[in-house]
Amino acid sequence: IVGGGLLLYSWGVFATSFKKANNDTLVTKQQTLPIPPLLEDKNPAPNKAEFEITARDGTMEFFEGIITNTRGYNGNFLGPVIRVRTGEEVSVKVTNELDESTTLHWHGLEVDGENDGGPHNEIKPGETWNPMFTINQPAATLWYHPHQMHKTGKQVYEGMAGLFYIEDEVSDSLKIPKEYGVNDVPLIIQDRRFDGDGQLDYELGMKDSIVGFEGHTILVNGAVNPFVEAPQGMMRLRILNGSNGRIYNLKFSNGQEFYQIASDGGFLEKPVRMDSLTVGSGERAEILVDFSKVAMGETVELQDQGISFMSFVVNQASDKVYSIPEKLTTIEKIDERKATTKREFNFQGTGSSVSINGVQMDMDRIDEEVNLGSTEIWEVGNFTGQTHPFHAHGVQFQILDRNGNPPPDNEAGWKDTFLVKPGENVRVIATFKHEGIFMYHCHILEHEDAGMMGQFLVEP
Ligand code: C2O
Ligand code: CU
Ligand code: CU
Repeated sequence: IVGGGLLLYSWGVFATSFKKANNDTLVTKQQTLPIPPLLEDKNPAPNKAEFEITARDGTMEFFEGIITNTRGYNGNFLGPVIRVRTGEEVSVKVTNELDESTTLHWHGLEVDGENDGGPHNEIKPGETWNPMFTINQPAATLWYHPHQMHKTGKQVYEGMAGLFYIEDEVSDSLKIPKEYGVNDVPLIIQDRRFDGDGQLDYELGMKDSIVGFEGHTILVNGAVNPFVEAPQGMMRLRILNGSNGRIYNLKFSNGQEFYQIASDGGFLEKPVRMDSLTVGSGERAEILVDFSKVAMGETVELQDQGISFMSFVVNQASDKVYSIPEKLTTIEKIDERKATTKREFNFQGTGSSVSINGVQMDMDRIDEEVNLGSTEIWEVGNFTGQTHPFHAHGVQFQILDRNGNPPPDNEAGWKDTFLVKPGENVRVIATFKHEGIFMYHCHILEHEDAGMMGQFLVEP
């Protein structure tokens, strides 16, 4: 009887963790927000940088006593932050220690196709890929992740993603928080589904969703429900929606306002006051939030549709030197009359038949040919019943209009990924400054993997 009782008891403990791991309300141990390390630049020369990144298997303890198999870059889950400056010549050695092929794509970076890390830049197990590029764009928060054909969703899900910061004279001169991990904090937001053994179950999350992967547990920088100590003053948050498919609507639990200062491709001209922020998968937003009216010791939670998934414990004294800047940068509007070509991209289909313009991705087919140096207007339509994030490689867009209306202020800067609602028509403009083969696709990774992707070739 005693033995049976013990058995029941240990089963009970297991069942509790199991329930925790699958619980929609995110009950778990409290832990501090992990801050990804800054990757060391191995080249001492100014204006030159050299980095080493290794894709590898790892393990994490997301839940007390449960070891979860993961993957990461130079570590167990996610990757280090790569920080470079505009004008810098960068070389990265990317080694694949996984047992399957992968690629490493620089999302948002303006580089030639051969350095972009798309599906054509396959790195076989045991091999090293060495992209080289010069940073040719303003300060921004970009990111990197695998782009292996049909495997992007699974590999990102297992933990492969990292941030890529560009700094420049503008970011140097702005009086905004810049102390990495202290008052300038990255938030990589991702949803996950754990099975009964606490393993990341990709298939499970796919099963009951036609909209792409959906998880019940939100991770921030690879932690469940973390907290971070915050100053009783200004904090800068660099938010990446690194989820496979989920769109977040973020708010603070005390309802307080904040200011968006940057979109995907860099600073906005002026801070935009907001009380909620929508981010689709692949999108980034930098915000300034001022906790000076929060009482010392109080906690403010960050929520998605009313559900808290991380907290800020306001317990650090602030020297109160920051205010919201009047102006951040100057963005030269691309003149519509400069556009020489207009193209249409229409999201169509559902489930495994998702497509763009009725065709699915074929690595041997070039869908669009763009003249190097030309300016084009791309018009993205959505003939499906769900919202899709449109993304293109190697280029930053300006949004001209959404259904004929000017974009909201927080989308009036550089964008490489933007949401397109059912029935919506979004017109964007860009100048194509880099040569090679590039992808455009839906950034719901399951849609991308299913073929909601095409290729454009940029050449003289
Ligand atoms: Cu973030 Cu084609 O990717
Ligand atoms: Cu990309
Ligand atoms: Cu999609």
